[in-house]
Amino acid sequence: TLLYMYRSRPKDKLDDHVLRFLSSMQHDQSILYYDILGSEAHSIMLHEMGHLTSGELKKILSALEDAKKNPDRIETEGYEDIHEALEAFVIKRAGMDAGGKMHTARSRNDQVVLDIRMKIRDDINEICTALASLIEGLVEKAKETKQAAMPMYTHLQQAQIGTFSHFLLSYAYALMRDMERLYLVYQRVNQSPLGACAIGGSSISIDRKRTAVLLGFDSIVRNSIDATSSRDAFLEYAATLAILTSTLGRIAEDFIIWSTSEFGYIELADRYSSTSSAMPQKKNPDPLELTRAKAAIVASNLVSMLGIVKALPSGYSRDLQDVKPPLLGASAITLDTIRVIDGAARSLKVNKEKMCRAASTSYAIALDIAEQLVMKNKMPFRAAHKIVGALVNRAASMDNLPLAKLQLSDVTSVLKTQKAGVSIKPDEMMKIIKEMTPEKSLQVRKSTGSPNLQE
Ligand code: ARG
Repeated sequence: TLLYMYRSRPKDKLDDHVLRFLSSMQHDQSILYYDILGSEAHSIMLHEMGHLTSGELKKILSALEDAKKNPDRIETEGYEDIHEALEAFVIKRAGMDAGGKMHTARSRNDQVVLDIRMKIRDDINEICTALASLIEGLVEKAKETKQAAMPMYTHLQQAQIGTFSHFLLSYAYALMRDMERLYLVYQRVNQSPLGACAIGGSSISIDRKRTAVLLGFDSIVRNSIDATSSRDAFLEYAATLAILTSTLGRIAEDFIIWSTSEFGYIELADRYSSTSSAMPQKKNPDPLELTRAKAAIVASNLVSMLGIVKALPSGYSRDLQDVKPPLLGASAITLDTIRVIDGAARSLKVNKEKMCRAASTSYAIALDIAEQLVMKNKMPFRAAHKIVGALVNRAASMDNLPLAKLQLSDVTSVLKTQKAGVSIKPDEMMKIIKEMTPEKSLQVRKSTGSPNLQE
């Protein structure tokens, strides 16, 4: 029976519980398609090298095409993995004489890593497409909300005046770097390990470059030990996804904070909001919260992979099978999450008035005022920092009065307490403060990459 076709040395059949423990069948479903493509290319090459007659090749290919069209017909019960199940399927359809030759000069060790490389290649393309859409959505939203001034935060405390669009574009820049990283990873993934066989190649004449070309690879992973043992390209890919989802987590967190009633800068579209079973007023940002969690999961998938791979001996060990779930999981989660953030960002309602009000009642203009003293009064920055700090302190003690509402008498008395205060007259100081509106703050901040609208 084909059920135990790999078991040539062991006399007993595998223990049922152990079989289930060993099986990777559940996660192999997502590489089945690539296992079929790889088997087709391998068989064509075997024929070209004279190891299969055209009759045998035809039988094998038609069985493989059948598997491609009707994957449900592949018997999986009792097999260890999809490679075994597919080979058994082909032998059943094509007969032992033809089908039994398909696994010539091949091992599951080069086969499985081939499949994963092909799957990751496709995943990278899909993720980059989704990423391009997200970046485009952020840029469109930035154009739409260009003028919206709002406070920027460090330590989550008001820092400087900025614009909402400046934040959106900052995300776009970070995501473009993720795309660059994926582009580089793709090149390392896009090399064929097929033909490395179990670990040391084959005595049967094969053409590794031919199968690489048939399967669309740029080149081959030359060294047969490297080809079957190394998972570094997958680690690099997972690390890239961990970095990417950590950026998505940051975007989600910004949006969560800004959508609270306290901030009210943005509101999620209803389609992107959950609610409460108990509190009727609730509109919760659950998709964004899960985005934060997904970033943790992808990062932990990377850590799982590193833990499995580190210090494994060279040559295939079954431990490597368990790299597959966290790797493919990271791919799927990342793709999902990008799409959620894309939709959430595009459908976001932006409350410019609320942002503007927060900006105009904020002390986030303090640094700009200090810089005016540096530019106009040639004051050392350290002295200007002291004066403006003292003015803010006075205003804050008056029920958080905006700086522009300070009276001349307040300014005069504050300047008197400051050593450097003698170098600026109270009325000049008043004028600088009053002029420093959020709009002016954005206009004067001219340095490259600042939120100045020209920039
Ligand atoms: N199911 C295995 C995996 O996913 C395939 C390779 C098995 N190879 C072996 N020599 N046992 O890694």
